[in-house]
Parts: sequence; C-alpha cells; structure tokens
Amino acid sequence: MTFKGSQRLQQLGSAIFSEVAEWKREVMNQGVDVIDLGIGSPDLPPSSRILDAMANAVRTPAHYGYPSSEGSLAFREAVAKWYQYRFGVDLDAETEILTLMGSQDGLAHLALSLCDPGDIAIVPDPGYPIYSASLVLAGVEPYLLPLRAVHDFLPQLEDIPDDVAAKAKFILLNYPSNPLSAVADRAFFEHLIGYAKKHDLLVVHDLAYSEMAFDGYKPMSILEIEGAKEVAIEFHSLSKSFNMAGCRIAFLTGHADAVKALKTLKSNIDYGVFGAIQAAGIAALEEDMENDHSVSSVYEKRRNVFISALNDAGWIIPPPKATMFIWAPIPKGWTSRQISREMLFQTGVVVIPGDAFGAEGEGFVRIALVQNEARLLEAAGRIGDWLRTLE
Ligand SMILES: Cc1ncc(COP(=O)(O)O)c(C=O)c1O
Repeated sequence: MTFKGSQRLQQLGSAIFSEVAEWKREVMNQGVDVIDLGIGSPDLPPSSRILDAMANAVRTPAHYGYPSSEGSLAFREAVAKWYQYRFGVDLDAETEILTLMGSQDGLAHLALSLCDPGDIAIVPDPGYPIYSASLVLAGVEPYLLPLRAVHDFLPQLEDIPDDVAAKAKFILLNYPSNPLSAVADRAFFEHLIGYAKKHDLLVVHDLAYSEMAFDGYKPMSILEIEGAKEVAIEFHSLSKSFNMAGCRIAFLTGHADAVKALKTLKSNIDYGVFGAIQAAGIAALEEDMENDHSVSSVYEKRRNVFISALNDAGWIIPPPKATMFIWAPIPKGWTSRQISREMLFQTGVVVIPGDAFGAEGEGFVRIALVQNEARLLEAAGRIGDWLRTLE
C-alpha cells in the first residue's frame, strides 16, 4: 500500500529549507568544512544557575506526574514579575499568561484556537514560516502583508483593503523581526493598536527577540501601549533570551479571552511543559531580574566583526539593531536562491535564501550569527575571497 498524507501537508513549510539541507549534505559529502549560518539555533549553553535548577528539579519525584497544561502557577507568577520588571506591564498570572512548549507550539495552534475555516488572518511577508503554516493547519486564508526595505520593513496598515481588515480575525507581527532583524518603535505600536481597535482586530505580537538588541537599544512589549491588553496578545520565548531552545518553554501574555482560547485548545492536545523545565525557566527569569543576564553583548560583537569583514570585502550590509540575524541585500545579477547555492558550493557557508520566508524576501539572504567570532570571521573571509573572484 502506498500511503499519502493529507493534502494539507503539501501546503506546509517552504521547500527551500529542504533544498538548502540537501545542498549542505552534498557539500559535506565532498569533505568541505561547512560553516552553518542557516538555522537560528543558539550555539551557547544556558547559565549555570539555569542548569543547576534543571538538574535539581529533574531529581524531584513530584515532576513525574502529568504537569498542568497551562503551566505551574509558580512559572506564570515568575513571568508576571519579569514582565513588570522588564516592560512595566502588569499581568494576571491566572488569566493573562499561558505556558507553552516553545512559542512555535503556541503559534502553530493559534489559528486553530481563534479562527474558523474560511476566516482571514493577516501575516507578514517575509515572515517566520510557522505564521503561514498555522493558517494552513486551520484552513484560514492568509492575507500577506508586504514588509519592504523602503518602509524600514514596517507594514503600511492603510494599504490593507477595508474588506480584509473587516473580515480578518487577527494581524500577526514580529519586532525585532526574524528574518528581517527590523525593529519597531512606540509610535508604530501605538498606531497598530489604534488600527486594531478601529477594525475590531486582534493583534498578535511575537516578541522572541526582545532580549537580543544592540547599541543600548531595548525592544518594547506591545502591552506597554495603553489599552493594548484589550486587543493584543504577545508571545515570548526563553529559547533565544536564555539559550534554552532545546528545553521548549515559552509563554503567551495579554488579552484574557484570547489566552483562554489557546489554553482551552491546548488542554485538549497535551499535558504541558515538564516541571523541571519550568523550574529552569523560573531560574532564568529570576537571574535576569537580579543581574540583567543579557545575551545581547555576545551577538553585538558577532554582528560587528561579521559585518565589518563583509564590508571590507565590498558587501555593504546595514547593521541590524537586534536579533541573531543579518538580512543581507544580495549583489545585483543573482536571485536569492542562486547566490545561496553558489556561496555554499564555493565557500562552504550556509545561508538561507530570503524567499524561503515569502516572495517579498527575494533579493535578500538571511545569515544567522550562531557561530563564535573566529568562525564568523572565517566565514566572512571565505565569502569575501569568493566575491573578489567575481569582480
Ligand atoms: C520569530 C520567532 N518566533 C518564534 C520562534 C520559535 O521559538 P521557540 O519555539 O523556540 O520558542 C522563533 C524561532 O526561531 C522565531 O524566530
């Protein structure tokens, strides 16, 4: 018997990621020392306090029953304290916070919990892939909101047709952004909240990179805007902020009814995050509140060395203000996919073609700063040597 999965699967995920993985395998099989700047997985470990908290909790027998699907009250209370410390936002741990197995988990199930088949949701292009995939899972029609360099990668909300704004259930945005490494200021968020109120639209903000910002810049939470909780929810993850991507813990905050919708769906799907991981999460948030345990300085140094080495080689890239990514405009005469492939085969450096994140990503590649400075310099050196051969 040959068995075909659902038609839904055909629409999931960009084929470009598998293509890049295939190129990488081919190059590795040739014995090349590959430097992978593709996937944004942190290369550093969590702090020793986080590791100790996890190790102790792993030995606690009470953690081996089913955890509660919404997360322990202790973890949600730590989140509430951290939101107050970091953003000055008050949250009710009982009704305005939901623990998640990574924000991917929450984002993947979001449309299923908020929308009915045939509804519309507004998502960014380019955008982090799960945004569109979650709409496919729920049978929701995407309205792709273009984010372009000419507008600093901020959406032109007024260009959204009125009938789309009227019908859409939510608008999803992400600043600081993956893949664009763009940022948004208070004026933009105020405008967005005003727009959402006018159109009776839920705003979903993905704040995965709030703790990875440079040159003294501190990204804000959308919930800092007055009245935002009436129309907005916000995802936050411990993956990037505290190097915990393998532990799978994140949370959703904001509008109580929307939080409850995802909580209800999730209580039918899983039993929540392992208690030892929640204990590690509490340690991460507490440590940050005690001594501002930011990963920013590591990535700022990586950004500086990598970008200046590429600049020296003639590839001028605007330095991002935040995130672990560089969204690099490509030299003329290439498509994103052509240059990514050729660069990998000629230099052994893996980057992701911009159109993997949507059609608007054509003309860019995404480079993840997930190697140490020496390896990044090596990568930039190889790319520079290769670019010089093309002159
Ligand atoms: C913008 C954005 N949102 C969400 C995620 C998912 O993070 P996690 O599921 O590890 O919390 C990522 C991971 O790269 C991301 O870049």
